[in-house]
Amino acid sequence: MKRIFIALALVCGAMSAKGQPQPTNLIPAPVEYSVHSGNIAANKVAGLHEKVRISEKALLRLLEGKKLADWQLKSAYWLELGKKGVKIVAADEEGVFYARQTLKMMASLDSTVSCCAILDWPRFRYRGVMLDESRHFQGKDFVKKQLEMMALLKMNRFHFHLVDNPGWRVQIDAYPRLTKLTAWRPVSFFWDWEKNEIGGLFVEEGTPGAYGGYYTKQDIADILSFANERHIEVIPEIEMPGHNYETRAAYPELACSLPNGGKDPWELCPGKESTFDFLEKVLLEVFDMFPSKYIHIGGDEARKNNWKLCPDCQARMQAEGLKSVEELQSYMIRRMERFAHAHGKRIIGWDEILQGGLAPDATVMSWHGTEAGLRAVKEEHDVIFTPTHYLYLDHHQDPAQFRPVGRQVSLEKVYSFNPMAESISEADAHHVLGVQGCLWTEHVQDAWHAEMMLYPRVFAIAETGWSQPEKKNWPDFERRASVLSAVARKWGYTVYPPLPH
Ligand code: ACM
Ligand code: ZN
Repeated sequence: MKRIFIALALVCGAMSAKGQPQPTNLIPAPVEYSVHSGNIAANKVAGLHEKVRISEKALLRLLEGKKLADWQLKSAYWLELGKKGVKIVAADEEGVFYARQTLKMMASLDSTVSCCAILDWPRFRYRGVMLDESRHFQGKDFVKKQLEMMALLKMNRFHFHLVDNPGWRVQIDAYPRLTKLTAWRPVSFFWDWEKNEIGGLFVEEGTPGAYGGYYTKQDIADILSFANERHIEVIPEIEMPGHNYETRAAYPELACSLPNGGKDPWELCPGKESTFDFLEKVLLEVFDMFPSKYIHIGGDEARKNNWKLCPDCQARMQAEGLKSVEELQSYMIRRMERFAHAHGKRIIGWDEILQGGLAPDATVMSWHGTEAGLRAVKEEHDVIFTPTHYLYLDHHQDPAQFRPVGRQVSLEKVYSFNPMAESISEADAHHVLGVQGCLWTEHVQDAWHAEMMLYPRVFAIAETGWSQPEKKNWPDFERRASVLSAVARKWGYTVYPPLPH
């Protein structure tokens, strides 16, 4: 068998200078890749004549009976790279886009590219990255730069964590103090700001030395148009009921009816109708800005201490027959889900939304581990996996790195994550939407640091999200990741380990 392969490779001329068959360096690894005779100089690939055929029928013929889900078919492509040109067949523009990303990556990774044919489609429909812009704000150019890399990696969901305790980052016309005040703080580094007994003080926009920023509606439109051209859906997150220190600082009436809003400065009051009025008005503007069918409503780490004491919360619990503060949280999330549905949206929430009963149509983002996600799948809910110990990119990849925090989440550890646990039945598998890497930025202030946390680990998440499980191979991926890392560095990305300056 081995001899036949070598003979074929010789005939096809796909030999490197050292006489070894030329492997593809692509990330994510494609489903089928076969080498044809001949090579093309990488710098000639972009100028080759391109023949594109968008036809589901033609693609189905090339798939030779392989059964793909509709969403897979939309992203699938067949590509033939020959000396005289490129042929692409896809059922949809999206597939053509991915074929071109494949060409772009092949031409970027090697100085010569083997003539070849590729048949390819994604394993999961959700291949995401989350960026926390509340704790430290990077801004539009940074986001576009990362979207560009995501697109090259065939990733298609950008989860925009826009609001949280240390800063609100998106213009809301109905509530201007969210950006006039709580997008700005006197201390730049998050941990200093949080430790400081000024304890989360915000300052008015324009105050000399103020740190912060926010996206105007025009900025968001710009980002969305950039993402749209790259087939990336941007999903905004508006946190509730916890992680709302900044919201309460801007509008103190959103806190519980307790002295100073209660001891815990963290949650909104779900007892008051005015809280829902606020959230609905904010969401209406967010829905207008973001066309995604999803809205992420947070739902994580609500401590709920104030709710046990607040007369409004207690009255709500009595009126609605809610037996615990967990049920009060569930009441709030279900009510917001009804509001989202009325506007044609579906909600995603962190896995705490399981507490007190899951909203009927909610998608769960499983972060504590995978158990909550597996439970949600059993309850027939969609799930996105982002388990902390595999896919949280704020955790260090190497104890020797700059500002290591949390547990070690090495590249190999990220790569080893399997979203499809054995306990998930074939019938339930469609509920696993996919995977996401989350970059929380408590200790990540600078753009170079943020990129160093993202890369190369995002390469591994892309491969887990796109490639078939039998194509995953750690030693081969490690080799390919180092090739792509070198190219990404040339393009100006900081990739771990960063090069000495
Ligand atoms: C989370 O990490 N609190 C979702
Ligand atoms: Zn309350």
